[in-house]
Amino acid sequence: STYIDELRAHGRLSHQQWLVLLIAAQNNPAFAEEIRVCAHAIRERYFGRTVYIRGLIELSNYCRNDCFYCGIRKSNGEVSRYRLSLDEILGCCQVGYDLGFRTFVLQGGEDAWFNDDRLAELVAAIRTHHPDSAITLSLGERSRESYERLFAAGANRYLLRHEAVNTELYASLHPARQRLATRLDCLRNLQAIGFQTGAGFMVGAPGQTLAHIAEDMVFLGDFRPAMVGIGPFIPQHATRYAHEPAGSVDLTLILLSLIRIMLPNVLLPATTALGTMDPQGHAKGMRAGANVVMPNLSPADVRGKYLLYDNKMSFGSEAAEGLDTLRQRMAAAGYEVVVARGDQPPLQI
Ligand code: 5AD
Repeated sequence: STYIDELRAHGRLSHQQWLVLLIAAQNNPAFAEEIRVCAHAIRERYFGRTVYIRGLIELSNYCRNDCFYCGIRKSNGEVSRYRLSLDEILGCCQVGYDLGFRTFVLQGGEDAWFNDDRLAELVAAIRTHHPDSAITLSLGERSRESYERLFAAGANRYLLRHEAVNTELYASLHPARQRLATRLDCLRNLQAIGFQTGAGFMVGAPGQTLAHIAEDMVFLGDFRPAMVGIGPFIPQHATRYAHEPAGSVDLTLILLSLIRIMLPNVLLPATTALGTMDPQGHAKGMRAGANVVMPNLSPADVRGKYLLYDNKMSFGSEAAEGLDTLRQRMAAAGYEVVVARGDQPPLQI
């Protein structure tokens, strides 16, 4: 298709082109398959059949934010709150290292206890203990100075989904004090500092239309993140969206493929939300052009407390200790889990 060719050649499309392309892909399975095959060829060129793994450590479920869709939002009184100690987090990293992880993702709610001093100490300690590993942070919005300090302490990557680049949609998903402009400033700061920076959004978020997704795709084409996290929205029973439908797995897969075509060297996970919605989610994600899986490396006793949505998977192939299951499943689908940092490779000409 001409739009696919143009997306490959220029790495971006207009909003109108995206909308036409998304409607066509969603309504025509043969076209969706053509997109998938194109994306998979690019995946193979950059990454072969390898799968990068990241050990996900959920260090705190305290959060000052109140995102309307999220299970650990501040006003959810059902949540039993926890935070891991420095020693517990270092213990998780050691367990992960021994299993073959060479990237640790420290993710958490926006918890003031994890101030710059504590986080810089934590990052420096991981950097010292595991000099050959990458450190990814996913800790929300912070000041430019804070990001600079964490980068100087040894962090390499930062995940901060933009959630929605449309002002009205962003405002409908978040309380008024959470501003899209702040989120975008943070993303630009992270990229300018030198982090491999990740953006992304939920597919099928309440109120989201294909026109909104087209806007998000324009944004990703302009911002050119090193990583993109997308997964289906999944309702959480204690939020206002408890009875909203979950996002579509098929649309998520189409978007993974289109993101791979637009950003050929992007680090693209088959997310936990995708794995939660579909037991074949990881393999389907890889076949669509994804190249990363992020198994849960948190202590088993806190996993049930980090529930962004209902039925969130954190055991089996979604867990670090289930890595052999993941390896076998990936091998059965024709992919190979590798022991590597898995940094973003350079663009090929
Ligand atoms: N369903 C799917 N994804 C969710 N997230 C938060 N709540 C949900 C939900 N109900 C995603 C957001 C956030 C990331 C950590 O998890 O996009 O950025």
